[in-house]
Amino acid sequence: MCYCDEQSKFEELRKFIQEKRNDKGALMPVLQKAQEIFGCLSYDIQEFISKELKVPMAEVYGVSTFYSQFTLEPKGEHIIRVCLGTACYVKGAQAILDRLSKELNVEVGKTTQDGKFTLEATRCLGACGLAPVMMIGEKVYGRLIPDDIPNILKEYQK
Ligand code: FES
Repeated sequence: MCYCDEQSKFEELRKFIQEKRNDKGALMPVLQKAQEIFGCLSYDIQEFISKELKVPMAEVYGVSTFYSQFTLEPKGEHIIRVCLGTACYVKGAQAILDRLSKELNVEVGKTTQDGKFTLEATRCLGACGLAPVMMIGEKVYGRLIPDDIPNILKEYQK
């Protein structure tokens, strides 16, 4: 969940910007700090940074979207990564991804409404011998079939 309207968080960010304002290349550390505080760089946050740091919005947006470490939308409590690398793909990873999307009622790349899960497709996770593979947080699940999904999700829905 993104608490993007919380005043105290904006105050914390304002203070940080004031400290960094005169540094060359301040935008990058400011964006990192904003992401740390808010968990995302939503439009409101980018606008705030642009105004406070006196950097054009186009530049703030450009840097925010260029680096994969930044996310414009808040991530869920649990991040599910389904491998779509070759070994997993040929063993039915797409069906795993589809089942997750259906069970959670969320599109790939998005977060569930309750903020619990973010569903992502990813490249090889380095566990091809266990294909098809997914990770929830740091935990690896291998040799999956779509019918495994509801039970696995239950562990996280408690
Ligand atoms: S292709 Fe999926 S873990 Fe390597």
